[in-house]
Amino acid sequence: MIENDQDYARQVKLLRQYDYHYHVLDAPLVGDSQYDSALQALKDYEQANPLMVSPDSPTQRVGFAALDSFSKSTHQVRMLSLDNAFNAQDLAAWYERQAKTLDQPDLAIVCEPKLDGVAINLLYQNGRLIKAATRGDGSVGEDITLNARTLRNLPQQLEGAPASIEIRGEVFMPRAGFEAMNRKLAQAGQKTFVNPRNAAAGSLRQLDPNITATRPLTLYVYGAGRVQGDWPVHSHQQAMDAFASWGLPVNPWVRTVTGIQAAEAYYDQLAEQREQLEYEIDGIVYKIDRYDYQRALGEVAKSPRWAIARKFPAQEAVTQLRAIDFQVGRTGAITPVARLEPVFVGGVTVSNATLHNMDEIQRLDVRAGDHVMIRRAGDVIPQIVRSIPSDPRGEPVQAPSRCPVCDSEVEREVVWRCTGGWVCQAQRQESLTHFVSKGAMNVDGVGGKLIEALAQEGWVQRPADLYRLTLEQLTGMDRMGQKSAQNVLAALEASKETTLARFLFALGIREVGVTTAATLARELGSLDAIMAADVERLQEVTDVGPVVAQHIHQFFSQPDQRAWVEDLLAQGIHWQAAAEVKDVLAGQTWVLSGGLESMTRDQAGERLRLLGAKVAGSVSKKTTCLVAGPGAGSKLAKAQSLGVAVIDEDELITRLAQWEG
Ligand code: IVH
Repeated sequence: MIENDQDYARQVKLLRQYDYHYHVLDAPLVGDSQYDSALQALKDYEQANPLMVSPDSPTQRVGFAALDSFSKSTHQVRMLSLDNAFNAQDLAAWYERQAKTLDQPDLAIVCEPKLDGVAINLLYQNGRLIKAATRGDGSVGEDITLNARTLRNLPQQLEGAPASIEIRGEVFMPRAGFEAMNRKLAQAGQKTFVNPRNAAAGSLRQLDPNITATRPLTLYVYGAGRVQGDWPVHSHQQAMDAFASWGLPVNPWVRTVTGIQAAEAYYDQLAEQREQLEYEIDGIVYKIDRYDYQRALGEVAKSPRWAIARKFPAQEAVTQLRAIDFQVGRTGAITPVARLEPVFVGGVTVSNATLHNMDEIQRLDVRAGDHVMIRRAGDVIPQIVRSIPSDPRGEPVQAPSRCPVCDSEVEREVVWRCTGGWVCQAQRQESLTHFVSKGAMNVDGVGGKLIEALAQEGWVQRPADLYRLTLEQLTGMDRMGQKSAQNVLAALEASKETTLARFLFALGIREVGVTTAATLARELGSLDAIMAADVERLQEVTDVGPVVAQHIHQFFSQPDQRAWVEDLLAQGIHWQAAAEVKDVLAGQTWVLSGGLESMTRDQAGERLRLLGAKVAGSVSKKTTCLVAGPGAGSKLAKAQSLGVAVIDEDELITRLAQWEG
């Protein structure tokens, strides 16, 4: 809360500091939503006390002054920023205000993904790229022409542009490139970037353009500044079409819609697609299409009235690290877990984050008591991306020498690993939970909690024990009624009918995931063949290397392990013997994307495999055909751009029937 002028001055200083760390150092101190609420508090106070507004206030300036190391560049027309809408009401209120001022109930609105990168101003004269500059404080930015020339999709020459034009756009780093680059930096022992936005900013502002050239940067353009010469354009959409026709990269998601409802529907659609996009976006930008309307509406302070950004929930936030615990997984691997002061990020409250391994702890140099930046994008596990050391600091974290659960010795391969195996209750429970999980035996309604209780009662030690549970035992448990107990037994019974691939995966052999299990089942055909295979034979299976082969062989050579597998079969677990693989689609690669109605994607994939096709997860030049259901999104776009054949579910069903028949 800002209650007086002193608080206000302090808040201005704080926000300037946030801005400096964000824009100049590329190392943000707080997450987006914390920044936004700090800024909102400032704005509220300024609105109530207009005479107090300081020229230093971030509301009065855009971004941060240019660094001295690049030469300065003055924009011909100021580069504005955008006002934010944080929910549907904010957006509707904005629309209503503009519709009322213009006295036009149905406005054409251009909707665009809000790219999370760095704004750039490109000056083209007589079609040639003359200068590129960052936004800086909105009036003066940094001249980064040499760096910009290294961007692969930025044309040096435009076909058909007016005599002189300032083009505005966003330079950003697609996720895949970001991850690959960070891996390389980490391997070289160099500092990694917190997120793609910071990576884009850091890469674009390298003093050595040779470094920028190695960074996977890309660009979409979204507007114009000053234009001189022939410019017969009257709306934003027309401008975007013109840009594309001159050879500038325009985001394929740009759409013009009419009215607020369609604008909201676009938000919903993109929010759903967000994780599938190849780059990060932090919201949607809405722009009133007609230039005469834009001129009539004008601007306030640093942002135009004719545009607004509707932000997605922030994916980053700063919180305090309370402690680092060590967790023991199914294979004994010991992973450090960060216990956090709960914080709202990526749409959920997060109180734990993975730290992967000790190297990660050392790399980040995190210690209990530090503040940390948490990032949670989509459904991925929350990660710690940066530590902001506390003062004074806690002790550096030590790797445990004994298992925190069973006290067995810990050994170090690449990870620290408890050697207790089934002796260790943590590993036992994790193995059992894995056994019943969806991709494995798929025992509906049985999860970690129930397994833990059953293991604690001593009733379930090995997977086969699950199938010996009685109604009496189950109904005697806490919070377990007659009906639920019956459901558990029915689900266990139903799980007995399975596939060899699921069964293999359920066994929890090290390094044997869903895909490897499916390949083993397909190529070796039966459990007997797999159990009998030696290391050499196993290595002949597609994608099975010496390490995986060794794990599989070792698993089945231990009499104890063999015994509990036999025990499972004795409980009645069974599957259909392998269907013969045909070679109708031999040599073809298929990809499935979006929803299917008459079967699951797994089932469709299995049928294609049985016809000899390879089923891949992503579209490339090598893809033979994409099966696209509703919501196929970026894979569909990619297939179309590569000219890959695309069919829908109906077509797939027809073809399968022909080929299988
Ligand atoms: S238009 C006057 N369109 O967001 C309008 N900006 O918060 C100025 N941004 O500085 C910007 N995607 O760096 C516009 N499709 C888009 C955008 C976009 C990302 C960035 C840009 C701008 C910032 C404003």
